[in-house]
Amino acid sequence: MGYNEHENDIEKFLSGESVFKNEQSLDLKYVPPKLPRRREELARLSRDFKPLVSKDGAYSINVAIIGPAGVGKTATTKYFCERFVKAADKRGVETLYTYYNCYTFRTKSAILRNLLSKYFAITSRGYSDYELLGMLTLRLKKENKHLLIVLDEANIIGAEDILSIIHAPEIHGFGEARISTLIISRPTEFQTLLNAPLSGHINDRVQMNGYSSEDLKEILDYRADLAFQSSAISEDIVDMIVEIASITQNARHGIEIMYHAGKLADREGKDAVTEEMVRIAKGYVYPELRPDVLNDLKLHELFTALAIAKRLKHSGITATTINESFEYYCIACDEYSTPANAKPTFRRHLDVLIQMGIIGKSVQPLRRGRRGRRGRITLYDIPATILEERTRNLIEEELKKASENNLSDKNKKE
Ligand SMILES: Nc1ncnc2c1ncn2[C@@H]1O[C@H](COP(=O)(O)OP(=O)(O)OP(=O)(O)O)[C@@H](O)[C@H]1O
Ligand SMILES: [Mg+2]
Repeated sequence: MGYNEHENDIEKFLSGESVFKNEQSLDLKYVPPKLPRRREELARLSRDFKPLVSKDGAYSINVAIIGPAGVGKTATTKYFCERFVKAADKRGVETLYTYYNCYTFRTKSAILRNLLSKYFAITSRGYSDYELLGMLTLRLKKENKHLLIVLDEANIIGAEDILSIIHAPEIHGFGEARISTLIISRPTEFQTLLNAPLSGHINDRVQMNGYSSEDLKEILDYRADLAFQSSAISEDIVDMIVEIASITQNARHGIEIMYHAGKLADREGKDAVTEEMVRIAKGYVYPELRPDVLNDLKLHELFTALAIAKRLKHSGITATTINESFEYYCIACDEYSTPANAKPTFRRHLDVLIQMGIIGKSVQPLRRGRRGRRGRITLYDIPATILEERTRNLIEEELKKASENNLSDKNKKE
């Protein structure tokens, strides 16, 4: 038998050798045990929420956290809440804390239903939002608990819904304020929340700015220590990643590059990350786009994204129109033998993609001699070919799931 050159690789895969010592610590949902360079913001949040634990009486404290992509809004908020709840408990103030990403929980109803079933085992089918809010506040009062809700990407559910949650205890006649919120948003999206009475109920606005290269150096050094074997990533390599992320001032940009570079090293069976791996990894990362954002899209939103990607992947085409993308959307649905939605519904799908920051829309006057204006649709951060590939994968997964469900329903009936 000849020598099998892959044999060693298999030995290596099985023995689990890796440049990582804790790969999971680079997962974007992971909150590290320390958050360098966010001490001031954490102190400020503690001061903001202090009345909940130090004064008698009921309080509702609502704080907005605003800042650009990847500056630690989500991480800092989760870090704070987890510790705050424990500190409050120690002081005899029982606080229920729940984090919601409004991309996943898109309406007040979805949030209320989740809260009631999670904490009070109440199945809420058939009740109106008004009744649900009533039940929630009554339970909180009866059990003498406080509720701390984080609404991440809060612009998706909107100011009115947020206000009605904050106000619920008063509206429902149980007097005491028992619900506090942390409302997270990027700056432009926050503008859409501001022009409503909500701004009058915000006790503090914590502005988080982009990270400087010194900030990123400390943060990425720390994250590299947590994730990699000590000999697997050199200081020069971390510095190279710091330099790339300094352009966007975005910590996630650096962390994602680190992760992909490490995966490349493992795939190639190397025991350290090289400069070339960082250069390749850089190409995989779209710093403005949260990598999981596409996972939250519904089937027809995916078709809509696919349609725009298909149109914009042709060279020389930088923007499309609503009419044109609708045509591409119908073709995309057809390709997967799925009936297309009508245009007004399609426009709503477009709005979701705009809200999620996947596509951009601007309005431009028509060319000279023609009256009116038209919407111009562009892709923000992600190349069209990549968006096409990712949406196709997700569409195929969704359709497969749907057909499996159909099959099992059919079997049950038979
Ligand atoms: N000060 C820090 N120390 C350690 N890690 C950090 C720090 N700031 C951010 N990170 C990490 O950087 C990544 C991005 O942070 P986060 O998700 O909190 O950004 P964000 O401001 O919520 O961005 P977006 O607006 O895109 O949601 C996460 O993996 C987070 O753990
Ligand atoms: Mg975030």
